[in-house]
Amino acid sequence: MAKDSAAVAEVLTVLAVAALLCAPAIAELTRLEHPAKDDGTVSLLVVGDWGRKGTFNQSRVAEQMGRVGEKLDIDFVISTGDNFYETGLTGVDDEAFEQSFTDIYTAESLQKPWYLVLGNHDYKGDVLAQLSPVLRKIDNRFICMRSFIVDAEIVDFFFIDTTPFQLKYWTHPKGDHYDWRDVAPRGKYIDNLLKDLDKEMKKSTAKWKIAVGHHTMRSVSDHGDTTELLQLLLPVLKDNGIDFYINGHDHCLEHISSRDSPIQFFTSGGGSKAWRGVFQPNEDKLKFFYDGQGFMSLQLHQDKADFIFYDIDGQILYKYSQTSMKKTHTLQYPRYITEE
Ligand SMILES: *[C@@H]1O[C@H](CO)[C@@H](O)[C@H](O)[C@H]1NC(C)=O
Repeated sequence: MAKDSAAVAEVLTVLAVAALLCAPAIAELTRLEHPAKDDGTVSLLVVGDWGRKGTFNQSRVAEQMGRVGEKLDIDFVISTGDNFYETGLTGVDDEAFEQSFTDIYTAESLQKPWYLVLGNHDYKGDVLAQLSPVLRKIDNRFICMRSFIVDAEIVDFFFIDTTPFQLKYWTHPKGDHYDWRDVAPRGKYIDNLLKDLDKEMKKSTAKWKIAVGHHTMRSVSDHGDTTELLQLLLPVLKDNGIDFYINGHDHCLEHISSRDSPIQFFTSGGGSKAWRGVFQPNEDKLKFFYDGQGFMSLQLHQDKADFIFYDIDGQILYKYSQTSMKKTHTLQYPRYITEE
C-alpha cells in the first residue's frame, strides 16, 4: 500500500515536471524601443477594427489618417485589433493581408511601424500566422505580438492580449473556432500575463504609462464593459499608476473617465464597419461618444497628453488634453517605497 502510493507520487512528480517542461515558457514581455522626436515628444495615430478590404469606409478612414499623420508628423501607428475580418488570416500567404492592410494604408505618413494587438476576430483565424515575422517580408510595418512593450522614452505602451480574458469565447464559442494554440489553459496564461505586466509596470520610469488592448473596459456601445478585464486587469493598471487604457472592439469612438481612479478610457474602434445604434450608459463618466467611423491621434509631451478624435472627413470631433498630475513616481505611490 505504502509502496503503491509512493509509486503514484513518483508518477505524479514526473507528470508535473513533464507538464512544466511542455508548458509554454513563461516568457518575459518583449520590449521594443522606439525613439521619441528630438524635442522629446511622441505623436501617433490609433485605429481599430478595420480589416475589410477597404469596404465600410475603411479606405476613407485610411485616407484621413494619411492627412492627419502628415500634419502631426507621426512616429508610429497603433492598432487596437480586429485587424482582419471576419476570421483573421488563413495563413501567412492570405491575400487579405495586402488587401486590407498594405493596399489600404498607402499614405506616405503611414509608412511607419504599426504596433498591433490581436482582436477576437483575429483569434478566429490562424493566430500564429498573424504573429509571424514572415509577414514583415511582405510589409515591414506590421509588428503584431500578443503582449509586449513599446518604450518611446517619455511613454511606455503596454500592449495586452485581451481576447483570452473573455470567458464566453472559451465556454460558449457558438459556431466559432478560437485558435488557442500557445494560450490554453486560460487561467495559467492570464496569471502569468498579469504577473509579467505588474513587474514591467513597476519597473517603468516613463512619464506616461499607457495600456492598449482590444477589448473594452468601459464602453457605452454594443459590447459594453468587459467584466473580466474590470476584475482582473484594471486592479493591475490602477496599482501601477497607468494613465490611459486604449481599446477597440466596440466600433465607435469614446472617452470615458473613471470615477474611482485617474485612469481615462479611450475607444478607437471606428476603422471600418460602424453605426451600431446602441447606447447603454455605465456608472463611469461619459465624456464623448461617436457611433460612426473615425480614428484618434495622440501627442505626448513631457507635461501634457493631447487626444483628438476625427471622423471620415478628417473633421475634429473631440479634443481632450491632460496635464501630468504626477509629481514623482514615489510621491503618488508611497507604498512601493516600503516594498523596496
Ligand atoms: C460612411 O460614412 C458616412 C458618413 O459618416 C455614412 O453616412 C455612411 O453610412 C458610411 N457608410 C457605411 C457603409 O458605414
